[in-house]
Amino acid sequence: MHGQAKVMVIDDDENILFAFKKVLEKDGFTPIFSTNGFEVMEKVQAEKPDVIFLDIAMPGLDGLEILKQLKDKGIETPVVIITGYGTMQTAVKAIQLGAFEYLTKPLDINRIRLLIQRAIETNQLKNKVREFEIKQSEIDYEEKYQIIGNSPKIQEIFKLIGVISMTPNTTPVLITGESGTGKELVARAIHRSGANASEPFVAINCPAVPENLLESEFFGHEKGAFTGADKRKYGKFEIAGKGTILLDEITGIPSNLQQKLLRVIQEREFQRVGGNETIKVEARFIATTNLNIIEEVKKGNFREDLYYRLSVFVIEVPPLRERREDIPLLANYFLKKYSREMKKNVSAISDSAMEILVNYDYPGNVRELQNIIERCVILSKGGIITPDLLPENLKSGKRDIDDFNIPIVSENLAEARRKVIEAFEKKFLIELLKKNRGNVSLSAKSAGVTRQNLTYLLKKYNIDPKSFR
Ligand SMILES: Nc1ncnc2c1ncn2[C@@H]1O[C@H](COP(=O)(O)OP(=O)(O)OP(=O)(O)O)[C@@H](O)[C@H]1O
Ligand SMILES: [Mg+2]
Repeated sequence: MHGQAKVMVIDDDENILFAFKKVLEKDGFTPIFSTNGFEVMEKVQAEKPDVIFLDIAMPGLDGLEILKQLKDKGIETPVVIITGYGTMQTAVKAIQLGAFEYLTKPLDINRIRLLIQRAIETNQLKNKVREFEIKQSEIDYEEKYQIIGNSPKIQEIFKLIGVISMTPNTTPVLITGESGTGKELVARAIHRSGANASEPFVAINCPAVPENLLESEFFGHEKGAFTGADKRKYGKFEIAGKGTILLDEITGIPSNLQQKLLRVIQEREFQRVGGNETIKVEARFIATTNLNIIEEVKKGNFREDLYYRLSVFVIEVPPLRERREDIPLLANYFLKKYSREMKKNVSAISDSAMEILVNYDYPGNVRELQNIIERCVILSKGGIITPDLLPENLKSGKRDIDDFNIPIVSENLAEARRKVIEAFEKKFLIELLKKNRGNVSLSAKSAGVTRQNLTYLLKKYNIDPKSFR
């Protein structure tokens, strides 16, 4: 594949050129050499190299000046700066001017090979991206609250948003989903697609407000209602008018207030704290939670009646790992967003980096992906996001054993180990039998143990396979 790849080396040192020549020819690249800074531009335009190695210390026109001229002319060929004396200032300057990489002498052949490889990958991708960009240009990336996604699960949510936005404000909505899945975005989309889109969208992050102030935050208060209430305050329910009230993390509100809230949602009216004027609620209530709200009801942390009232429409936003098809779309979206914001020309994610991104599990969901891409854009030098820019934990395979939160049940190592292993084996066997509906032969096969071995273990843990049939 790299038989035709052209590698240009600009250096006045014949020894360096000779060393490059040997390596490049051995690897099957076409070398192009230049010892004179003034002819570089012409040669680059004529030969169109795939990568350029450029010595910083050239007589006449120095390397950084050449780099600047290349960039000014809009030449996107990756440029690797070579220097004999690495100082922070020159390194910083080179990167700021758009160098792809920065190498100090003595040169390491393997590193050079790797860079050539990466540069070629970068070029090929850039060409692909250019075609893609033309098709994408109508998308408005400034849309702040746009929900990106093409997976069937997200498409279902788009439909639900459409249905809900046609209902009157008296219909409440409950949005559930893990942290970072986009619950707030969904709430905003419902608001903006509805008839009252121009009315206020008022969000209250319930756990962030001190408990004793939450009531006044909701309903407002009259002057003198409590110590410190030196003037009337309008609550968020009033401020929202005919718009939307987002109760973010609703499971965080205390029980007595849950009760008051239920009454307000049912009767659509309330009074300010310390007041007796009745005020109508005209906004729509949207509540979110990242907990399993049914569990919270069971545990007695959340009122069942309030849950029923809120759950007329429930939107469950799925975790990102359950809609992996959306990952490339989201990753490219964030890439555009951040390279634009940071005024960096990072245009694509390499296939190998994308593969890692798609296979990661994202406990922090879309927010985590967004943060990863932001970091990559900051670190990126070559205009392409390659695997080396991704955080280590993404590359170390699937789930880490740390995730299982293994308890230390004894100070004695042997005993602690035995107990953990027993607990693990028991759990493993139960899951195995469930999956294979109590069929011992099948279970043994899928676990990679003999039937006798499995039977022994089942006896040991007193598990009856029949109970799984
Ligand atoms: N489908 C999506 N398209 C574009 N951006 C998204 C998408 N989903 C989430 N985001 C972005 O991810 C971040 C988290 O989204 P959001 O705040 O809506 O999540 P959340 O579910 O409310 O999280 P939390 O439970 O932590 O409050 C935001 O910056 C949001 O813009
Ligand atoms: Mg949120």
